[in-house]
Amino acid sequence: MRLDKFMTSQNICSRKEASKLAKSGTITVNGKPAAKCDMKVDPERDIIEVGGKRIEYREFVYIMMNKPSGVLSASTDKKAKTVIDLLPDELRRRGLFPAGRLDKDTTGLLIITDDGGFAHKMLSPKSGVYKLYRAALDKPLSDEGKAKLERGVVLESGESFRPARVRFPGESDRTDVLVEITEGRFHEVKRMFASCGCEVEKLRRLAVGELFLDEKLSEGEARLISSEELKRVFSGQNS
Ligand code: URA
Repeated sequence: MRLDKFMTSQNICSRKEASKLAKSGTITVNGKPAAKCDMKVDPERDIIEVGGKRIEYREFVYIMMNKPSGVLSASTDKKAKTVIDLLPDELRRRGLFPAGRLDKDTTGLLIITDDGGFAHKMLSPKSGVYKLYRAALDKPLSDEGKAKLERGVVLESGESFRPARVRFPGESDRTDVLVEITEGRFHEVKRMFASCGCEVEKLRRLAVGELFLDEKLSEGEARLISSEELKRVFSGQNS
């Protein structure tokens, strides 16, 4: 990979800036100043430093965001603010997209990445990755409704949803529901509850697989996911 490409891919600087940094001797490759920004580097092996600070190579990045309400799960939009717009400069790089969509009014855990293979695997129902949501309903979910969700909802249109796991975190409050699903169809959770006569007033995603939202992140904040944490997405699944 060219040195300037490496620099831009790691979100260090633009190509133009890379050229200036190289000329000024600020970049070193394996301890030697890199005079030319078109020199070839091996990102996996070479030690590349800028101003004496080593740049750890990341082929892909994985970001956890606590998505606020009112923001689109999309990379770009002409009018509305997107989750990518919320990212701080240090987390930005080309090719980032949200792995799966949350509705505009849904809050909570959103994974943003530039790794299409990862996103595909995470979202594929075949992987069986459970996504955990907490839903606030307008009325209590009946035993019958709970059993329906657990069996797998079949809508009048013939569309069907896979069986969900359903729990009530508060013993007596059946408007507060934890629901886990392996698919990610359009408005899936809302439509599942609607089929039981309940409207979802608030929806928050708490986990994807065993990866839980970092409660230290305020709404709108984001941070990198470590490689250890990333494994939790698929831990316990039949992938
Ligand atoms: N199901 C929904 O209905 N909305 C979401 O945002 C996610 C799952």
